Amino acid sequence: MATVPATAENIAKAAKALQDGELVAFPTETVYGLGADARNGIAVARIYEAKGRPSFNPLIVHTASFEMADTIGQFSTLARRLAGEFWPGPLTLVVPLRETAGIASLATAGLDTIGIRVPDHPVARRLLSSAAIPVAAPSANLSGHVSPTTASHVQDDLDGKPAMILDGGPTAHGLESTVLDVTGDRAVELRPGAITRDAISSILGQNITNSTAKVDAPMSPGMLASHYAPRTPLRLDTTEILPGEALLAFGPAPLHHHGPMVNLSARADLIEAASRLFAALRQLDRSGASRIAVMPIPDTGLGAAINDRLRRAATAR
Ligand code: TXA
Ligand code: MG
Repeated sequence: MATVPATAENIAKAAKALQDGELVAFPTETVYGLGADARNGIAVARIYEAKGRPSFNPLIVHTASFEMADTIGQFSTLARRLAGEFWPGPLTLVVPLRETAGIASLATAGLDTIGIRVPDHPVARRLLSSAAIPVAAPSANLSGHVSPTTASHVQDDLDGKPAMILDGGPTAHGLESTVLDVTGDRAVELRPGAITRDAISSILGQNITNSTAKVDAPMSPGMLASHYAPRTPLRLDTTEILPGEALLAFGPAPLHHHGPMVNLSARADLIEAASRLFAALRQLDRSGASRIAVMPIPDTGLGAAINDRLRRAATAR
């Protein structure tokens, strides 16, 4: 019986489960989220596995307070103003990540920015303050399905995958949070959602552009790359290493190599490999190698998302 009523006792159990690296589905004012400790790469990898997502996208990190959010991201005057106005609430602010925050690189999909929000739902708030950790949570549905607005939607999609599903009744908005990039001087809407662009514009006294409107505009500091890619070229599915290359290995028998190497998982565990992927790419990117040779990774389970990201990185330039 994974679905339980969101009583004080069950919320306390759920908080403990999150601290222990387990998955918990919980209601927010927008949709139900599938949460995990954002500092625990294995726990975050389990989110992707449970959703069956064929690709890695940065996840929204939920905190109980602005104070905790402020220890994770760098809030400009603009970001602070928006947080002050709309938090707790369905507004996600994308800000520069503090490297000291200890957020798993899989949670931000390797980016050096992070999407954070303080949700406005009594169950989410109690859960987050009692766990006292940042919680990465996408919507609690299978990839490709609609976002869940009741606990039974979550149960239908993810039965048995989260340690607990906290039932807090139907969600109020049924529409995800608005995602706003506030890394630059002006706010840019990355995803329309529960808070309208007009509401944000009238608070700020300035028009909010959306990211599609920015495609034709010149690059500005606020312009976000939506995907992390290393600068060093990648060569995939390799069974040999060429001179000058670094090795991204997988499995118990890595290719013999004296140069820079990271093994994503010596025990060929795809969850472990996913949790290490972005940190490994960054490390090899800094190694000075002229290219990164990547050993074959099975395309099953999380392997599909890992290979998707590696293929994108290989063709990024
Ligand atoms: O209402 C919501 O926001 C729900 C509830 C559970 O809080 N969560 C949710 O999370 O919808 P998710 O992971 O499904 O959506 C995350 C969105 C994606 O569109 C993602 O691209 C964007 O936020 N996002 C997150 N971090 C980002 C970043 N660093 N840069 C750009 N976009 C980011
Ligand atoms: Mg979603």
